[in-house]
Amino acid sequence: MPALAQPRATAVVSPDTLREVHGRKFSNLNKTYMLPADDKEFDRLNIQHIMLRVLLGGLLPVPDEVVRGLLAHENAAVLDVGSGSGHWPVDIAQQFPHVRVVGFDLVPARPAATPSNCTFVQGDAHKDLAPFAGQFDIVHCRAMAHSSLDFSHIVREMTRCLRPGGLFVLCGGDLGLCNVRKQRASPAESSFVRLLQQVRAVDETRGVRARSQDFPALIVSAGGREMLEPEYRAYHCPIGWPGLPEDGLGENGELLGTLMLRNAKASKTWRIHLQCSVLMKVWTQTFVPSWTPLLVSQGHPRASVDEWVRRAEDELRGPSKMMYTKWHYSWAFKDGKTG
Ligand SMILES: C[S@@+](CC[C@H](N)C(=O)[O-])C[C@H]1O[C@@H](n2cnc3c(N)ncnc32)[C@H](O)[C@@H]1O
Repeated sequence: MPALAQPRATAVVSPDTLREVHGRKFSNLNKTYMLPADDKEFDRLNIQHIMLRVLLGGLLPVPDEVVRGLLAHENAAVLDVGSGSGHWPVDIAQQFPHVRVVGFDLVPARPAATPSNCTFVQGDAHKDLAPFAGQFDIVHCRAMAHSSLDFSHIVREMTRCLRPGGLFVLCGGDLGLCNVRKQRASPAESSFVRLLQQVRAVDETRGVRARSQDFPALIVSAGGREMLEPEYRAYHCPIGWPGLPEDGLGENGELLGTLMLRNAKASKTWRIHLQCSVLMKVWTQTFVPSWTPLLVSQGHPRASVDEWVRRAEDELRGPSKMMYTKWHYSWAFKDGKTG
């Protein structure tokens, strides 16, 4: 039985793992990734995880029988790269108790109830994935494209972790929002769009260029010849409104719209809802102000950034603009004949 590399998981974040940037905590291991690594951020990721699970109708964009087939052997293993708060690996470990699941991140997660078949490893996907080469049936990576000046290198490292025949799944949210017609919303339409436009401009300047809509091409170019033809699907999630009837979300439309609105502004009502649902205790946190340290550290005056954030928050508190977030999924199998 091929042994998995021994995880270097730690239960708590050691002080030298984190640094403070404009009032929020960030990982010290990699200075390109510029979303915080603190409780507020983990709460946001938990809400986002629940939303994506509802949006997909599961944890992966492929049929359940495909997943069951991949994991139907006694050495089955799953790797989640950039596992954040750890919800995804915990969920898949609970669904498949015989499968060894590893969550890998710059910052070790601390999920309250981690099943014994799930471990967390701290490391940088740029350089610390080599010990995992050829060991996993599924490698999943969600919302991490924003983390690197060379995301294609990380994609290469991740596909190396697959066994022959294994499944690679990339997911990312689009920093460009969509309007009610599902076309890209213009900055003139929304303060939230304007804030995210500033984030994209700063990313462009510092060389963070990977875009979720380019994932299929990225898998082809970075994954190499052993990766088979990627598939792709985009999912639209309404923010704070039920979405169009043709979204086909049915009852979930309203729920998802509410979830995304709460994800963006984390209202007290939603925190109570989460607590009542025994999902987790949620502290005040938002997606919108998470970008403040990045924007300020890249030279924007603090007062301007605070004003952009305030306007976006006001907008999200008001009547919905009927916009969508867009989530890109691309997945591909590794050729079963390659070793
Ligand atoms: C936006 S969060 C998404 C977390 C999780 N995948 C989810 O969907 O909830 C991105 C995560 O990627 C991690 N990350 C960023 N760059 C990384 C790197 N080079 N190596 C490992 N993890 C990284 C961050 O620490 C963060 O937890």
